[in-house]
Amino acid sequence: MTPKLCAIGEAMIELAPVEGGLYARGFAGDTFNTAWHMAQVLGPRARVGMVTRLGRDALSDAFAAEMVADGLDVSGVSRDDHRRMGLYLIELDGVERSFHYWRETSAARHLADDPQALEAALTGASLIHLSGITLAILAPPARETLFSALARTRSQGARVSFDPNIRARLWPSPEELRQTLTAILPLVDIALPSFDDEETHFGDTSPEATLKRFQAAGVTEVVVKNGAGPVTCHAGQIETPPVSEIRDTTGAGDAFNAGYLAARMMGHPVDRAIRAGQALSSVVLRHPGARAPKSALLPLD
Ligand SMILES: Nc1ncnc2c1ncn2[C@@H]1O[C@H](COP(=O)(O)OP(=O)(O)O)[C@@H](O)[C@H]1O
Ligand SMILES: [Mg+2]
Repeated sequence: MTPKLCAIGEAMIELAPVEGGLYARGFAGDTFNTAWHMAQVLGPRARVGMVTRLGRDALSDAFAAEMVADGLDVSGVSRDDHRRMGLYLIELDGVERSFHYWRETSAARHLADDPQALEAALTGASLIHLSGITLAILAPPARETLFSALARTRSQGARVSFDPNIRARLWPSPEELRQTLTAILPLVDIALPSFDDEETHFGDTSPEATLKRFQAAGVTEVVVKNGAGPVTCHAGQIETPPVSEIRDTTGAGDAFNAGYLAARMMGHPVDRAIRAGQALSSVVLRHPGARAPKSALLPLD
């Protein structure tokens, strides 16, 4: 049977500057970027879906149609009568990029409001991927609903993958950030943290310290990313091949997750999956935006 892979989270409307003071409209969001790349490199070998909430407006429809056209399963997408997608705009000052968000009232913040719908969306999944951003956008009761759904689906055989992807400004306080990102770990099978985030918010002194902290919390498969530095896993460190002509670092971690998880779903061992993650993020690094052009992506072997 074709394995079902689900990413839970928020995609936003993206306005990215092009020439002449104009903006190009796209769609992006960390877990969506990961799901999209997994769908491209796995093709018909997996059913990759998004579990999110959209509005009933034309932009939400356009995003849903784009997901279908790109091979994503939208059966886990619910619609909100009163809310729409969040939006962000990228401002360029020379080569510096800054991001401006309008996401506080987005439909995705309500993706876990209906426990039955959430469990139905996850039923039968062999892999569920979510991030700290997914948790940050949910109200505390919705986080509890999500944790229950993860526990239930996990007891039915799903593996849960988690990238803390820490964004401090999405959290009401550093305490709530740390408390929530720690509380989920007993439900996690695969953790994909980035060392700089964990150093800043948890005081880890090295990638090994991050690895050990996640392992102590019960996560069996931990892979610590560290930009251009080596990737750290239970077996030690794997060097990151240098990438020339980096255009834009946005989405490098999301693409790494996609290559890694896709390779693991194909049954490859951790070291080979890390290399697949590095290879996919190198493609994203060499192109503008959080997703690589389809023409630059090869099927995973
Ligand atoms: N400067 C770089 N050179 C080569 N690879 C990089 C570079 N920056 C990121 N990567 C690749 O992207 C992955 C994720 O990068 P990282 O910066 O740790 O995550 P995030 O984008 O989430 O902050 C790394 O493991 C590596 O494979
Ligand atoms: Mg990241």
